[in-house]
Amino acid sequence: MSENKLRHVAIIMDGNGRWATVRSRPRVWGHIRGSTVVADIVEEADACGVQALTLYAFSTENWCRPQTEVKVLFALLKKFLLKERPRLIKNQVRFRMMGDLSHLPKDTQNLIQSLENETQNFKGLKLTFAFSYGGRDEIVSAVNNWVEKNPGQKLTVEALQNSLLVPDLGDVDLLIRTGGDQRISNFMLWQVAYAELFFTHTKWPDFTAEEFRSILDKTGKRERRFGSVCAEDNLKQTIQKAHQNKFQLFNQSEVH
Ligand code: IPE
Ligand code: IPE
Ligand code: MG
Repeated sequence: MSENKLRHVAIIMDGNGRWATVRSRPRVWGHIRGSTVVADIVEEADACGVQALTLYAFSTENWCRPQTEVKVLFALLKKFLLKERPRLIKNQVRFRMMGDLSHLPKDTQNLIQSLENETQNFKGLKLTFAFSYGGRDEIVSAVNNWVEKNPGQKLTVEALQNSLLVPDLGDVDLLIRTGGDQRISNFMLWQVAYAELFFTHTKWPDFTAEEFRSILDKTGKRERRFGSVCAEDNLKQTIQKAHQNKFQLFNQSEVH
């Protein structure tokens, strides 16, 4: 594989329920099987040189699911935190969660806090779980928090960016969704503005490190133009160029 340019990869881990249903099993079977895939993908992302991996595990809308299913998802999160803790620490992974965690069981909240604290200075892969997370909620909270701290001032793109839940993750470079559906489902609405999108029919429990690597390889070859006419290194450069051009054209039209 060529050098990986996709710094921040986000995944909508979808298709668990259907994976189980086609096997005539209850939906939670799919979640249980799906939860065993996560650690492999985390390792592969690290091995591929990805710097930040953000995984969508539970949305604000998923609260509407049957309570039994929600409880299984909570239990699987707790299991992951307990089981993977040593490996995450060994690999210097910086672990964080984003979303409204206030309704999670207290012991799970404590496990999260403890792992976040323990890994806060690690310089390896930034692994973030989006749990009880919604992109709209994130933007609204960011705006409200900023306005409260800066009364009467005008919000800027940069200020909003810095007010998001985990600002240092930056823009998403590649968004993968498993399970065959082609939608965003309220995930990182701000951060995916210029993301490459990749939809695979593979359901999450069948997703493998090999497929992850091959998606990275394929999308890494795409030309990202960020609104320009040729491939650019990053969005910031094209925005700067756009401002310069706007300024120059405006001045010229004033002269004539
Ligand atoms: C994704 O799988 C996991 C969560 C949303 C928690 P689903 O449970 O949505 O599986 P499908 O899409 O119904 O197959
Ligand atoms: C998105 O999947 C949320 C997660 C994968 C955690 P959903 O299954 O909830 O999304 P919709 O309902 O198909 O849009
Ligand atoms: Mg789904």
